[in-house]
Amino acid sequence: MALWGGRFEKDMDQIVKEFNASIGFDQRMYNEDIDGSIAHVTMLAAQGIVTEEESRQIIDGLERIREKIRSGEIVFTVEDEDIHMGIESRLIEEIGEVGKKLHTARSRNDQCQVDGRLYLKEEIRAIVAELIELEEVILRKADQYAEEITVGFTHIQHAQPITIGFVFMAYFQMFRRDIERLTDTYERMDLCPLGACALAGTTFPTDRARTAELLGFRAPTENAMDSVSDRDYAIEFLSDASISMMHISRWAEEFAWWNTSEFSYIAIDDSFCTGSSIMPQKKNPDMAELLRGKSGRVYGDLMQMLTVLKGTPLAYNKDFQEDKEGLFDAVDTWKACIQIFTKMLDKTEFRMDQIEKQLSKGFLNATDVAEHLAMEGIPFREAHNIVGRMVKACEERGCQLEELDEESLRSIDSRLSRKALGDISIPACVSARKSFGGTAPDEVRRQIRVGRSWLESL
Ligand code: ARG
Repeated sequence: MALWGGRFEKDMDQIVKEFNASIGFDQRMYNEDIDGSIAHVTMLAAQGIVTEEESRQIIDGLERIREKIRSGEIVFTVEDEDIHMGIESRLIEEIGEVGKKLHTARSRNDQCQVDGRLYLKEEIRAIVAELIELEEVILRKADQYAEEITVGFTHIQHAQPITIGFVFMAYFQMFRRDIERLTDTYERMDLCPLGACALAGTTFPTDRARTAELLGFRAPTENAMDSVSDRDYAIEFLSDASISMMHISRWAEEFAWWNTSEFSYIAIDDSFCTGSSIMPQKKNPDMAELLRGKSGRVYGDLMQMLTVLKGTPLAYNKDFQEDKEGLFDAVDTWKACIQIFTKMLDKTEFRMDQIEKQLSKGFLNATDVAEHLAMEGIPFREAHNIVGRMVKACEERGCQLEELDEESLRSIDSRLSRKALGDISIPACVSARKSFGGTAPDEVRRQIRVGRSWLESL
């Protein structure tokens, strides 16, 4: 019979036991569960609710159980129902009657929440460390490619020439916000629900500030009912994960494009590609595609959690047990994606000879010509129209803007001449875009410096 079996006459049906149990997945949090119990019983002893001797026996017993789980000596089954009861019943087996005092002034409802928050806090720290690693690789690559020029797109059409370092620094900002979002989530969830008990607190003279402190939380949660019902912290985390996976997915998409024979901007390292079982020549960018695909999975985890929560009245409901698997899945998936992506990025080199061929297509310097004419005193809207006509003339003649002869220029507008156009070579256009946040190599290097000092401040 289960630990809660006092008022029952029959054991649960086997199929019900299996359906009800969370031990299959929540045993991942056994360390957190034991840490929570140790803090709890330490507080109970300090408050005179159990004796120091009882507390010592319980803590020793819990540490032995921790070791037995770690070594594989304890194997949980559906009979254990969940990690909380699994550990408590093993404790009673291990140390006898005194083990029955551990569950004084707490409930599984607050226990599963303290486990969840301890678990997630640690994972957030680990994920932030992975993202920092990614940012470091991005900075290194941005520096390496600060001067190298590529095509900048809007609407997937050639737009303006940009530096490759600039592209890297764009993604740097996205992952920076991901780290900041995670840090915010961490701050907000850093409150300890332990001692909220089932939903309404307890008649025992507990000291929740003490358990919060022992477990490394900033403070105890304010309201017991909220403490056992809240899963916002997990939803926030899943939304942080979804946003970051969206960033990974967008860049992975670009990788897949850049790797095509049409683009050939990069050749993804062999160690990150797979072959085809039928087409011998194939080298497929599977990692980039999987990174893109995995974002769908993490969005699913977020949607699942939002949907589970939406119709649940206060306080605890068993629906909440469904809060774990999606969370674990998102943690594992996001972490693995950051690791793979960081490695793939690190190994990627750009094929400048291939990119070079594209720079003469699509009149990448047209905006620069218009800006130049505007600086010479022609109102920008008029300059825009003049360059539009120049582009048309070039298309008819199959030439570049800088190749139009004096006569053609003058027939487009009397103020035009080769000299009036100034230096409109692609490198000159890129170097001139040094407005704050622009693509010029000097400006990219400034962005790298700011990025680096932010990383170092973490
Ligand atoms: N396994 C449960 C969960 O994960 C623990 C809390 C169960 N509480 C209860 N009163 N049934 O949510």
